[in-house]
Amino acid sequence: MQTTTTTEQTSGPNVAQRRVFSGVQPTGDPQLGNYLGAFKGWVDRQDEKENFFCVVDMHAITVDHDPAELVRQTRELAAVLFACGINPEKSTLFVQSQVSAHAEACWILNCFTPLGWLERMTQFKDKSAGRGSVSTGLLDYPVLMAGDILLYSAHEVPVGDDQKQHVELARDIAQRFNNIFGDIFVVPEPVIQEVGARVMGLNDPVAKMSKSYSHIRGHAVRILDDPKEIQRSIMRAVTDSGNEIRFSNDPEKAGVNNLLEIYRVITGKSEGDVETDFTDARGYGDLKKRVAEAVIEELAPIRNRYNELIDDITELDRLLAVGADHARSISEPKLEEMKRAVGFALPDRTRSSTR
Ligand code: TRP
Repeated sequence: MQTTTTTEQTSGPNVAQRRVFSGVQPTGDPQLGNYLGAFKGWVDRQDEKENFFCVVDMHAITVDHDPAELVRQTRELAAVLFACGINPEKSTLFVQSQVSAHAEACWILNCFTPLGWLERMTQFKDKSAGRGSVSTGLLDYPVLMAGDILLYSAHEVPVGDDQKQHVELARDIAQRFNNIFGDIFVVPEPVIQEVGARVMGLNDPVAKMSKSYSHIRGHAVRILDDPKEIQRSIMRAVTDSGNEIRFSNDPEKAGVNNLLEIYRVITGKSEGDVETDFTDARGYGDLKKRVAEAVIEELAPIRNRYNELIDDITELDRLLAVGADHARSISEPKLEEMKRAVGFALPDRTRSSTR
């Protein structure tokens, strides 16, 4: 499989602005790591590029799930994203299952994706390890994801390290399809988000803070936690037995480093300025108190906006329907191109329009 990052993405359809496609699964509780590592950057970037944000509920059913929870978490995540500042006037935020082109594109792409490519995916190997039976959907997950990206002719796909291999697979699939059928797809690039890309667990600062563990007490700050809960989690964060407040790669100091990193991303300050801010701090207790204050100040307005949005489900659903309409206006023509390319007998538009 080819995993080079050469840029020949001028091929394919013309898109005036750089397109960005981001997907996020509605599983677990959205937490500070998601916010600082992803959502905050997405919000800040809205003016520069044309953005599609997709709540990928179809990916969420590839493993065991509770339907009632999925509905709730899909709306919750959408509301959190709006509350964080995704602006429906500037960006397209939608729910994957509301746009049927994703499932259809997945089928077509399946038929051009060698099975071996999927069996090699490390996330599939991890998620299926030790399980007696896994769904076909779990194996096919990266093809659905490739469809998400390719339907929108996205140039850039911001992801964490763990998803880079899937974006590379989407490139391989796009290139293979283009080789067979001509320039249909933009070949996307993974963009690994630098800023705050790795917020670590508070209870275990050498492991990335994750939605999947957010139920474990003391692991994460959830975006929707109230100020008291945030304060409590941060005050309990694991640190070392020393007293030096500085950035460090020493695994021993990972806890302090993580707290400083959280503070740095929230304040937008340089590492030097952050350390200066804490020269007068009295020990780690003081450090934690100030980091907690910064986090509370950042998250409180988000929580308030979230509460307003989730109070009015009709309005939230309307916003999502508008997003899905716009998503369809982009993805449906691309899907049609795919269908014609592989030889599906769609009504011939040129002929019917001249009669
Ligand atoms: N697999 C991604 C994750 O778990 C979510 C995702 C689905 C995605 N489709 C996508 C991310 C398309 C980027 C682009 O994080």
